[in-house]
Amino acid sequence: MSALEIRTICCIGAGYVGGPTMAVIADKCPQIQVIVVDLNEARIADWNNPNFERLPVYEPGLSAVLKRVRGKNLHFSTEVNAAIKDAEMIFISVNTPTKTKGLGAGQASDLRWVEACARQVAQYAQGNTIVVEKSTLPVRTAAVIKAILEASQQDKSTEGNNCNFSVLSNPEFLAEGTAIQNLESPDRVLIGGEDKDSIESLATIYANWVPEEKILRTNLWSSELSKLTANAFLAQRISSINAVSSICEKTGADVREVATAIGSDSRIGPNFLQAGPGFGGSCFQKDILNLVYLCHHFGLSEVANYWESVVQLNNWQKERISKLVIQKLFGTVTGKKLAILGFAFKANTNDTREAPAIKIAKDLLEEGAQLAIFDPKVSSSQITFCLQSDEYIPPIASTKAINTGLNDEGKWWSSKSIEDALNGADAVLIITEWDHFRSLNWQSLATLMRKPAWVFDTRGVVIPNEILKAGLKLWRIGDGVN
Ligand code: UDX
Ligand code: UDX
Repeated sequence: MSALEIRTICCIGAGYVGGPTMAVIADKCPQIQVIVVDLNEARIADWNNPNFERLPVYEPGLSAVLKRVRGKNLHFSTEVNAAIKDAEMIFISVNTPTKTKGLGAGQASDLRWVEACARQVAQYAQGNTIVVEKSTLPVRTAAVIKAILEASQQDKSTEGNNCNFSVLSNPEFLAEGTAIQNLESPDRVLIGGEDKDSIESLATIYANWVPEEKILRTNLWSSELSKLTANAFLAQRISSINAVSSICEKTGADVREVATAIGSDSRIGPNFLQAGPGFGGSCFQKDILNLVYLCHHFGLSEVANYWESVVQLNNWQKERISKLVIQKLFGTVTGKKLAILGFAFKANTNDTREAPAIKIAKDLLEEGAQLAIFDPKVSSSQITFCLQSDEYIPPIASTKAINTGLNDEGKWWSSKSIEDALNGADAVLIITEWDHFRSLNWQSLATLMRKPAWVFDTRGVVIPNEILKAGLKLWRIGDGVN
């Protein structure tokens, strides 16, 4: 296959990764027609919503990019087969959740959608087609995709329809909440593959805005493994600082001071040292468990245990927060109103996948608490879904809000304002670090609460003096002083 100058791209999967990534490619490459397809009709309708404030994904800066390109060289559609047929390059950006049953349940990724996409591509693609893995996948998934494509290549050539496929791995490193910034100025772009021309076809697209020295070329397996390893390292840092936060609380140290002190060492660096309620998001836990599964598969049980401990520590961090809330509230939360501020897994996103708020809320509901939940971007229906099920469905901007109780004792509802949530509450838990929560007027909020009232700051966003001056009690993550 000689290097193609790409004019048409199709991306399968209009999620948090596919949508923003393709929007930026379209913005930076006006010469390329980009079509993003998805099986989920409601999601595509939301991407095409004339109101740019009601997109399915909340991401700062995204609507501005979409305003420039949507309907020009970026299109959202459910016509998957037609888009595959017309595309010279196809990105696979569908979800790969952890398997819930069968072989590898609880650790391995469920690749059924990736396989289905590969089969669809095999059936409908025409001519030379480059298939790009964008989804984070277990190492050697490219071999599966290649096997499917090659089998169809043989069938098609006997029918006189010559088709050539090449598979690349191009993992996405964007973080939600800063996706547009990460896509526009990436630390690096990673392209793994075997066919040099295909690698250059993709590198040429990125070269429209990414400096050449930041475009790294590797073999397929290095690329796939680099993505898993990058996420494992990042998650490990969070579990490390969260482990330190618990030591701080026992010893009188302050985790913020410790983080600044260790982060000033250029070998360690200051990023990713924020102690919190535990990491969430669609990737960290899934990717580490993938790595664990891979290690077991190759008989590397010590390595598997090493990585698994990162997830175990994360689960413990979430659990210890609900336990200490109960303990501080005189050992019981039954019938008590607690306000939860923030439900998204981090600030600046409406994504709730693996959000620590889910586990913390469920534990408190189990104890009979009455939870008033406020998040500026997460819909009530999304919260309902999270608290009633272990599975994830993508949030859809147009769904209507509903209020629900989980069981006879514990109850929750979605509050329209912070004041509503705190009114009559015995405690407030800050679980997501939305900027707005850093500058609340605690003097006036305190008057709404039932005394003695607590503030549990799991993100370290409040100013302790303001809480104490308002007559409230404070527990702050990693704070051994209070
Ligand atoms: C997903 C994976 O979770 C992540 O591991 C990977 O790195 C990138 O893709 P994300 O975009 O955040 O990340 O997932 P999600 O928001 O769930 O979007 C996936 C989309 O694919 C959904 O809209 C789903 O409807 C769509 N899909 C899934 C298809 O169009 N076809 C399928 O066969 C399966
Ligand atoms: C992550 C990776 O950063 C990204 O490169 C990859 O492509 C996808 O997975 P994301 O999950 O969107 O991105 O967000 P990230 O900023 O990494 O945060 C993940 C979780 O860690 C969040 O729950 C966040 O609150 C938590 N976190 C992050 C901390 O608790 N402390 C920190 O210092 C940083």
